[in-house]
Amino acid sequence: MTTQGRKREINYEESRVGTYTLPDPLVCADGTPVKTADDWMARRRPELVKLFESQMFGRVPEAARSVKPRCVVTSEAKDALSGKAIRRLVDIHVSDDPAAPVIHLLVYLPANLDPGKRVPLFLCLNFWANHAISDDPGIPLSTRWIRSEGPPGIVNDRATEKARGSDHMIPVERILARGYAVATTYYGDIEEDHVGGLRNGVRGTFLRPGQAEPAADEWGAIAAWAWGLSRAMDYLETSPDVDANRVALMGHSRLGKTALWAGVNDPRFAIVISNNSGEGGAALSKRDYGETIEHLNSSFPHWFCGNYKAFTNREDALPFDQHEEIALIAPRPVLIVSAEEDRWADPKGEFLAAKAAEPVYKLMGTDGLGLDLWPKPAVDSLSTGTIGYRIRPGKHDVTVDDWIAYMDFADHHWKIRR
Ligand code: GCU
Repeated sequence: MTTQGRKREINYEESRVGTYTLPDPLVCADGTPVKTADDWMARRRPELVKLFESQMFGRVPEAARSVKPRCVVTSEAKDALSGKAIRRLVDIHVSDDPAAPVIHLLVYLPANLDPGKRVPLFLCLNFWANHAISDDPGIPLSTRWIRSEGPPGIVNDRATEKARGSDHMIPVERILARGYAVATTYYGDIEEDHVGGLRNGVRGTFLRPGQAEPAADEWGAIAAWAWGLSRAMDYLETSPDVDANRVALMGHSRLGKTALWAGVNDPRFAIVISNNSGEGGAALSKRDYGETIEHLNSSFPHWFCGNYKAFTNREDALPFDQHEEIALIAPRPVLIVSAEEDRWADPKGEFLAAKAAEPVYKLMGTDGLGLDLWPKPAVDSLSTGTIGYRIRPGKHDVTVDDWIAYMDFADHHWKIRR
């Protein structure tokens, strides 16, 4: 096997991380420094977005960029969750092609909203389909392909009634009790998470006539999921009781990688939260610890664009690193969340990326991370700088305490007093 294709041993030894040089986000490709916020926005930021787009996530094709989805509220219940919630189901049609996927958005709002009041909202993709979020019988059972290695109730990649309420990752009632609304959609509604998923997902819908698969610089599945989040935002902007200026986007793991990229591309996401997103997400790639680009490209070849394959075992050749992706969200608040035992995602690499994004946040006139050292041991902590950081003890997961931290972070930045 060539060096490039070789399976690489995973390093978990801090002493074997070696040395690496991170690109300076505040130096343009032509070597000139970026000295002002305007220069960052006008010159450096677009140049960096293009790099991430052409070399990592892939460009959204023109036909998909101009989509104005047709959003249909298919049902509304004012007494959901024993009277605690308003439940709204929305079908988001992204194309007139009857074969195109429909994105099913599930929205819960706190019951008894004051008339005319708009509520801040958390938006997140989910892994196991909407019916798994809650045992609320009003949520239709998904008929889509669902990975069978998750919670119970999936038989032959399809949901059965047993799958209802099997996903703990979105504690709906806790969120509503804090006065937030929450909206979620199954990522597989946008595109199924396997190599063949592109055929009946949105990337298939927007292939040009005669095109069998996206070009090497066109979107991978993560960019497609991120695009789907923006279509959900298109709907939320039209919703009379949602405060579209206060929508926080949250994603875990591969969906954390997705949330960061969606946050870069769509400034309507006012807060972006990455939970345990790891390699290809918040963690530095050039730092050799935990998952590698080789692993991403060989195990999930559909996630990133074709050009990203060139960086398998060549992290040193990457013209950017993930601190610069975080920096592209500036000046909006971003929260990076790590779990201590999640060595695969390299918690320290996530912290170091957050830290290295700081010069851009400061140039944009905000504070930065406000921490110099990686908090260790990982007490259940939250730092609420414009770049927030949290590490907690425990494994790769989303916990109720994580959600409390997301809401504390949003309360802080949106000056919500309780
Ligand atoms: C795998 C993958 C990670 C990803 C994770 C997940 O572990 O290697 O990159 O974040 O799956 O999404 O659960």
